[in-house]
Parts: sequence; structure tokens; C-alpha cells
Amino acid sequence: MSLHNKRILLIISGGIAAYKALELIRLVRKSGGSVTAVMTKSAHEFVTPLSVAALSENKVYDELFNLTDEAEMGHITLSRENDLILVMPATANILAKMAHGIADDLPTTLLLATDSPVMVAPSMNVRMWQHQATQTNMQTLRDNGIKFVGPTEGDMACGEFGFGRLAEPTEILQALTNHFTTGKTLANKHVLITAGPTHEPIDPVRFIGNLSSGKQGYALAAAARDAGAKVTLITGPTNQELPIGVEVIKIQTADQMLDAVTNALPADIAIFAAAVADWKVAEYSTNKIKKQSNTDDKTLNFIENPDILKITSNLTKNRPPIVIGFAAETNDILANAQAKIKRKGCDLMVVNDVSPRTGIMGGDENQVSIINKHNQKIVQLARASKAEIAQQIIKYIGEL
Ligand code: C5P
Repeated sequence: MSLHNKRILLIISGGIAAYKALELIRLVRKSGGSVTAVMTKSAHEFVTPLSVAALSENKVYDELFNLTDEAEMGHITLSRENDLILVMPATANILAKMAHGIADDLPTTLLLATDSPVMVAPSMNVRMWQHQATQTNMQTLRDNGIKFVGPTEGDMACGEFGFGRLAEPTEILQALTNHFTTGKTLANKHVLITAGPTHEPIDPVRFIGNLSSGKQGYALAAAARDAGAKVTLITGPTNQELPIGVEVIKIQTADQMLDAVTNALPADIAIFAAAVADWKVAEYSTNKIKKQSNTDDKTLNFIENPDILKITSNLTKNRPPIVIGFAAETNDILANAQAKIKRKGCDLMVVNDVSPRTGIMGGDENQVSIINKHNQKIVQLARASKAEIAQQIIKYIGEL
């Protein structure tokens, strides 16, 4: 059931191959997906809404200004409430409209209003396909991120032979399946990520913090989400925009972070990218500490914070199968990281050089190595943006 729960909005435009859309609907449903169909005016010449509705077991939409439909489901909602829009068959006419942003009926309005991925399966006469206008439109659509399946070469309904034949429904089903599975290396995995600094309060207006921006942890959360994982991001105070599609738990202190991590378990993968304060003040003052008149000096006593990475790595119950720590070092980078991986008991350690000359702390780029405790291998990644580094770390984890 490779299309399990996937909602396909199928736009049928008016080509002789429109009847093949009926077979596609059957295949998508057999594969666990659902289909809502929208037909262009000319598509009605080739298939009937009744057969489309019967096979999809869904209402078929075709008029932009049908007030009943607008009350039921507006065109914006219709354009968004799906996982992908497939145009099949896609005529030269609808491809041209898509390339130029023309929205003069319901299907083209949906295509302009949508934020879903769009795939098209072109189908037309070989000369129409080869025409410079169509080829230029295709290039525009490619540049706009539209996906294509077909056309293929073969005999055409018009008696000619060449490119322009609609891809077979089984090929289109495969393209849909590939779209939903490619790169989803962490599908069905729960990934827990800590990020940002912690703030350890001294009194109601003061705290001990650090310069962590949270950028790398947030980028990891987005990359894990894009790899299909269910992500819980436990974050200290940062200015980062919260990644969408991720469960975010905001905390202030290391103690709160530990509680949040414990409550979020079980997880398949835990990534500890937070810069947790090593110490907290021994005695929190409930009143603001006043400057003392008889002395300029003030001494605070510190006690150690819980080491969340170490605690999680050594759990006997609910220990995530893969626990990853981060080591920010300024000297003897690899040796220190090797020692740390043993001390903490995690499986992988992502190590980076945060000495000021690197500009990594708080910056947009990072350069890391990944140390694997089990095979002792070290993978060095080239310096890149924190988003790219995150994708590479997630890819590495996905391959384990
Ligand atoms: O010991 P150090 O702070 O260098 O270790 C860094 C790693 O340990 C990071 O992965 C960090 O998120 C984690 N850590 C933690 N709890 C602490 C201190 C560090 O989870 N109290």
C-alpha cells in the first residue's frame, strides 16, 4: 500500500487519452490512496463525470463559479487539501496556461493557487509536443519545480508515430509512489532533537546562558521531518523560526529539558544538539539580588546540571536505539570527541571546531565530522550551510 493515506487531486484535461485516468484512479485506490477529480470543460467530451465519480467514490468538481461548491469547499481549500496534484492527461493547452499563470477555469485556478507538489503527464500529437512553444512552456514548468511523467514514444490515436503518448497508468502510479517514498529514509521513525541554549535563572531577572543560536538543531529538525520522521524538537530560548510540521516543546532550563526529553520517549533516534549549561546556581533567589553597599564582589555557587545526553544514553528502559551527541571543541578536536563518545555512552558524536576563527558558533555555516562508536569510522563533511549539514547528517543516520 505504497500510497497509503495519500490524497491525489486529479485534474483531467481534454485529450483522447483521458479515459486512461479512470484506470489510474483504480490503481491509486488499490495502492491505498484517495482521488478527488476535477475536469476541464473539454475533458467532458472524452469521459463522463459519472464514471469518474463512480471510480473515485468522490464528488467531481468542474465549475469555478458554482456557488454550491464554493459553500461546500472553496477553490483555495480544494487546491490545498491534497498531497499532490496530478494533471493527467495534460494537453498542450493546459501546460501553456500553467506556464503563464493563466487561471480562467477551476482546474487552472487550482493549479495557480496550490502549494502542493504538482505532477503532469503530457499527452498530445507529436507535432504539438515538438512545437517550440510547447518545449519552451515545458522548460518553464520544469524550472518552476513541476514534475513530469512521460510522454512516451509510440503510435498515436491520430495515426502518427512519435513522442507525445501519455505514459501508461502503471508508470504514472510508479512516479507517484517514487515521489512519496524517495528520500523518506526516516519514514515512521520518531526523532527527538534538543536545540538551542538553556537559561539557568539566578533570580527573577537574571540568568546564565550561552551563545548557541539553535540554527543547527532547527535545521536537523526540518531535515528529519523532510526525511519522513515524526519530529519532537525540545528547544531552549532562540530567535529561530519554528519549523512547521514538527512538535515543538519550549523549555528554559536543563532540568526542564531533561523532563521534556524523558516525557517524549520512546524515540527511535535522539539527537542532542542543544548547548546545555553545565551548571546552574545552587540557590535561586526568589527576589532580585540587590547590590550590596559594603562590598563590590558577589559570589555565586554553582551545582552541576543533569547531563541529558549521558542519562539518555545509559537508560535501561526506553533507550533510543540511536543516540547522537554533539561536541563543540576548540582544540584537540577529534581526540576530545573520541573521549567524549565513551564518557557519554552515545552511538555517534558530531564534532565541530567552534574556535572563534571558524565563525561557526552563531554563524550560518558549519563543518563537522561524524564519529561512529561502533565501527570507529570518522566521516568528515565539507564546510556547508547548517541546512546542508543537517541534511547530510540525517542522510548518514538514515543509512545506518
Ligand atoms: O560535555 P559537553 O557539554 O561538551 O557535551 C556536549 C553534548 O552533550 C551535546 O550533545 C549536548 O547537547 C549534550 N549535553 C547534554 N546535557 C548536558 C550537557 C551536554 O545533553 N548537561
